[in-house]
Amino acid sequence: MWLPIRIVCLRSQTTWRKSFAANVILLKLSRHRSNANVSHFSHSAGLSAQTCKALLYREHGDPSQVVQLEDVPLPPVGVKDVLVKMLAAPINPSDINMIQGTYAILPDLPAVGGNEGVAQVVEVGSQVKSLKTGNWVIPRDAGLGTWRTEAVLAEDDVISLPDDIPLLSAATLGVNPCTAFRMLSDFEDLKPGDSVIQNAANSGVGQAVIQIAAARGINTINVVRDRPEFLQLSDRLRSIGATYVIREEALRRPEIKELFKTCPKPKLALNGVGGKSATELLRHLQVGGSMVTYGGMAKQPITIPVSALIFKDVKIRGFWVTRWKRDQSHDGRAFRSMLDKLCSLIQQGKLTAPPCTNVAFQDYHKALDTAVQPFTSAKQVLIM
Ligand SMILES: NC(=O)c1ccc[n+]([C@@H]2O[C@H](COP(=O)([O-])OP(=O)(O)OC[C@H]3O[C@@H](n4cnc5c(N)ncnc54)[C@H](OP(=O)(O)O)[C@@H]3O)[C@@H](O)[C@H]2O)c1
Repeated sequence: MWLPIRIVCLRSQTTWRKSFAANVILLKLSRHRSNANVSHFSHSAGLSAQTCKALLYREHGDPSQVVQLEDVPLPPVGVKDVLVKMLAAPINPSDINMIQGTYAILPDLPAVGGNEGVAQVVEVGSQVKSLKTGNWVIPRDAGLGTWRTEAVLAEDDVISLPDDIPLLSAATLGVNPCTAFRMLSDFEDLKPGDSVIQNAANSGVGQAVIQIAAARGINTINVVRDRPEFLQLSDRLRSIGATYVIREEALRRPEIKELFKTCPKPKLALNGVGGKSATELLRHLQVGGSMVTYGGMAKQPITIPVSALIFKDVKIRGFWVTRWKRDQSHDGRAFRSMLDKLCSLIQQGKLTAPPCTNVAFQDYHKALDTAVQPFTSAKQVLIM
């Protein structure tokens, strides 16, 4: 599963190389800076500073220890580049794992944290075709380093979004809703009335699964860990379209059979947890159904009962949205089409961002500390 470290973030490394190279070049050219260079930045609505603030880590470790706010250089905007101002960027589990050094892909250090977020284009290079000043954009791939105030990026590093969707929806669109969309589309032929079972149903992915499934008339059986405010959480998940919300423990009890008298057995199980939780999902899958693992929050391996394989012939699959995006990178149409469908759901009010806590960029310590706490039920989003 570990990919060679060099595969990682080729684009962001390009940006980094540009940044550091530009730092040197700017020093060298400072005495000769031409009017053209000055005017180059004069379009950028006050963003003429050639550094930006970024949440940088120089070594792997505990995010609250190793991440620091620093000034990093911004390279000049090349003909095929755009200068963007970051607007908002969430803290996702994969961001934490990257900083800890435990994720499947790791950027070269030092690195700017963050893989997701929405930015606004403030300047475009002369040969940029697909983007205009004012456009909202999100990264096309993981590893861009979104926890920063500005960035100079290649046109192809980002993809535009409509700017009439809520900021938090845009900031959290590129990873979790895309993962949910693909998992509901690519593994089983789900029709209205079919069912999907999932654990970590209150996660960002889980809430997107609930809403996208509901929009397609698909039932969702949503498993969450027990907590004092379970009823409140259950009500909230139902309000966004969950058909059933049950505690992990309830899934193991015989009474669960009652549920399947009214709801068809699921064709698809979505596992973001692993361990016993995943095994329980498998027990309820239809004959021939699929369990797709996309996360391992419990950090426990999955036991698959032999009966599930022999008598039910279940399919055990995995999904990684980064791989999907890279597989599609030669032809942007599939990504564009998915984003258009997701944005249409957002515009119709059928897909909302998970509950988020907006945190001012400079208060990143608080956000990082909260993001690693269990039972948080709110995504920490840095507002730049
Ligand atoms: N494969 C992919 O392409 C892909 C894409 C996106 C996300 N992911 C992965 O999906 C998972 C969820 O991401 P997210 O951004 O949706 O997360 P999130 O919004 O931060 O939510 C985290 C979820 O994990 C649960 N959780 C935390 N620790 C747990 C534990 N020890 N046992 C069981 N559940 C636990 C939380 O439940 P409580 O409320 O009970 O704490 C919550 O439901 C992560 O592993 C992430 O890396 C994978």
